[in-house]
Formats: sequence, structure tokens, C-alpha cells
Amino acid sequence: MTKSQQLRKLHSNDTVLSVVVMWTIWGNRSFSNSSIRRLESNTSILKHLISKITATGPISVAEYMREALTNPVSGYYVKNDMLGAGGDFITSPEISQIFGELLGVWCVSEWMAAGKSSVFQLVELGPGRGSLASDILRVFSQLKVVLGETDISVHLVEVSPKLSQLQAKCLTGDQTWTCNDDQPVYCSGTTCTGLPIYWYHRIEDVPRGFSVFLAHEFFDALPIHKFQRTENGWREVMVDIDPESPEKLRFVVSHSPTLASSMLIQKDENRQHVEVCPEGGVIVQKMANRIADDGGAALIVDYGHDGTKTDTFRGFKGHQLHNVLEAPGMADLTADVDFSYLRKITGNQVTCLGPITQRSFLKNMGIDSRLQVLLRSCHDPSTRAQLINSYDMLINPEKMGHRFQFFSMLSRGRLAQRKGMQQDTAPLPVAGFAELNVQ
Ligand SMILES: C[S@@+](CC[C@H](N)C(=O)[O-])C[C@H]1O[C@@H](n2cnc3c(N)ncnc32)[C@H](O)[C@@H]1O
Repeated sequence: MTKSQQLRKLHSNDTVLSVVVMWTIWGNRSFSNSSIRRLESNTSILKHLISKITATGPISVAEYMREALTNPVSGYYVKNDMLGAGGDFITSPEISQIFGELLGVWCVSEWMAAGKSSVFQLVELGPGRGSLASDILRVFSQLKVVLGETDISVHLVEVSPKLSQLQAKCLTGDQTWTCNDDQPVYCSGTTCTGLPIYWYHRIEDVPRGFSVFLAHEFFDALPIHKFQRTENGWREVMVDIDPESPEKLRFVVSHSPTLASSMLIQKDENRQHVEVCPEGGVIVQKMANRIADDGGAALIVDYGHDGTKTDTFRGFKGHQLHNVLEAPGMADLTADVDFSYLRKITGNQVTCLGPITQRSFLKNMGIDSRLQVLLRSCHDPSTRAQLINSYDMLINPEKMGHRFQFFSMLSRGRLAQRKGMQQDTAPLPVAGFAELNVQ
């Protein structure tokens, strides 16, 4: 058992009391592998891309990224468990259970503020190893009194067969789960906490109904197009074969406009270089439609900016930066999320909040009190040190505190002031985006 698993186990019976008490005091207003196999897969994706470019010419960065990450035979996400110390990168839910617990409280808080719907779907996009969902479900169990007889179900949108197996093990324990790759619901089972759980490849296959959507480090993994402003106007950056080294790839700027460069650049764009993620836009539009029609909320957490950054496309391998055009399929490829683009895409269907920094969000959610509760019940010096170090990693501005941003979509009615009501029945503040007023 790893140290992080030991920690999770050690505190799994612990309650999220500090946060719960805080909300109660606040007045119920807003409850509140093998290296050989890896080398083969690298060679196969590179060979595949080289023969494709030889046959039909340079490909877009989006197509390159899609093949490298999600090629159904040898894509990076399809074959690997890349998370954690032995992988290529580590994410907040893997660093500390506190992260998922606070997001669990956020989900319940928004469910309450939206009127305690009798049906509650927790939908996570790109759940990795399942750690975030696991920590959230533990909070749901501890808040059974609050959730009552609500019909809760869990829905995971995951493209990777390898990761969906890890998720099923993590979330259903030893219970059996059944899979049928040909169906829209390609896997289903029962969580360790007794809730029905389902897996899908696409968000559109998730049933309609009140849903809280979570996407942690999901949007940064979706394919981007890159554009360069030139004296002849906007041109798309493409991936081509390096003429000096036919086994290698290089970036080139397209001579003439492409369909993407004609369609995806905003008229008022003033940057010199722009990255656009249309696939992310389509997914956000679907979430916004559902929230507007069926009720619910969404929380998107990622590296990102508000329409200011230019060239953010990068690779990670073994926790180090990695040349994005080298060894496709063997390294993570990622680009900062442009939250201003996502906000524009939602139109007026939903209310958007943020982006705000991870530090602000977690502080507003009561991470300091939660850490104190855990430290009070823990006397082992090394476990205490690990709790403090992981807290620091999450909120230190020099570490993940300012690099990661929280962005939310809520149904428009959520923040509307109720007509004719006194001030004390004003809309409930949104947990995480507003400081909790503990008196
Ligand atoms: C960077 S990992 C983040 C994992 C997890 N959310 C975490 O923070 O630990 C990206 C996740 O999104 C999944 N993913 C990537 N592209 C996807 C796509 N197009 N559709 C569904 N899932 C995708 C990956 O398999 C993986 O589970």
C-alpha cells in the first residue's frame, strides 16, 4: 500500500466535520510497463503519422494531439497509467484526500442551493484513477442525513480502457462490474458506498437529469489548433516531416488559410499567436445546455488563463518537460485552458463564475480548518509532515495554488434574487467562489 493510500485509509472514517460544522453554523443557507511495449507503441504512432503526412500533407496540431493521446490502439491515455510518482505527472486529487473532500462538499452545497432535486447525477469527465470520485463519494456517505432519500448515481466519461479499469477497481472495490465495449454505457456496477455507477465514452450518452459535472485536468488534454498571425493574415500551425531528418517531425506554418483558421479566430483577437480547443467548446456547450434545461452545476479545474496567453502547448514525461513532437504516444501533451473561450461558448444559457485560483477556492471552502481536524487526529510525525506538505503543494502560489484555476457554470436562476424577498433571502452565495462568513 502506498503512503497516499495509507493516508486515505487512515482518515477514511474521519468526517468532514470542520466544513460541515462551518456550513451548519452559517445557517443551512448554502450547505454551505514495460519499456519495450512503450517503445513499440511510440514507433507505431510515429510511423502511422509519418505515412499519413507523406500521403496527404501536414496535419493540424489538433490531429497530432488526438492521435498521440487517444489513438484507440496505442494512444498515451489509452494504454498507460501515467498518474503519480512513478508516472509522468501528479494531480491534486492524487496529492491529498482533502481536495476531493472539499469538492464533495461543494457538490452537496450546490445541490442544496439549487433546490435539493430528488435525482442527483454526479458526472465526472476524465476521472484518471478515480481518486477524486472516491473522496467525493466518501463525503456523500458521511452526509447521508443531508442527502436523505435522494436518488444519487455516478457517471464517468472516460476514453481510456486502462484507466476505466483502475477507476472500476477503486470505486467498486471487489464488487463485480460488467463491461460491454460496443454499448454507449460500456461498463456499469455499484460503488463501494452502494450507488449505481456507469461509464461512457461521450458526454452525450450520459442520461438527462439534474447533474453536477466535474472536470479536473480534463480540458487541458483535449486537442488544440494553433494559429499564427502573419503579414497575410491568420495561418494555422501544422505538423510536418522534418526534411533534414525523415524520422522526425517539425512545425510549419500553412501557406494558405485552413478551414480552422477561417472559422476559429475571433474577430476582436489581438494576440499574435492563439490556441483554440473546439472540442472543449463543444463539450462545454453540451454541459451548459443540460444545466439550463435540467438544472445542475459544473466545476472545471485546470491550468488556464482568461484569453491572455499564447503558446502553452507542452509535453510531460517522468515529471519533466518533454519536446511535444518527440515520441508521440509516450508523453503527456497538454495546453492551458482558455476560460474566456469557454465562457463565450456558453452564451447566455448559464451563469459563469471564475476563473479564480485554486488557493482562493480551497481557502474559501475551508481547507485550513479541514487540515487542523486531520492534524488533531494524527500523531505519527511522518504522516503529519505529509499532510502539511500536500496542503502546501495544493495552495502555495509558487506550486499549484496559482497555477490551477476554478471555473463554474450554474443555472441562471441560481443567482437570481427572489422577487419581493427581504435581503436575508437573497441568493445563496456560491461556496468556493465566496468567502464563508463563519460567525
Ligand atoms: C490529465 S488526466 C486527469 C485525471 C484526473 N482527472 C486527475 O486529475 O487525476 C486526463 C483524463 O481525461 C481522460 N481523457 C482524455 N481525453 C479524453 C476524451 N477525449 N474523452 C474522455 N476522456 C478523456 C484521460 O483518460 C484521463 O482520465
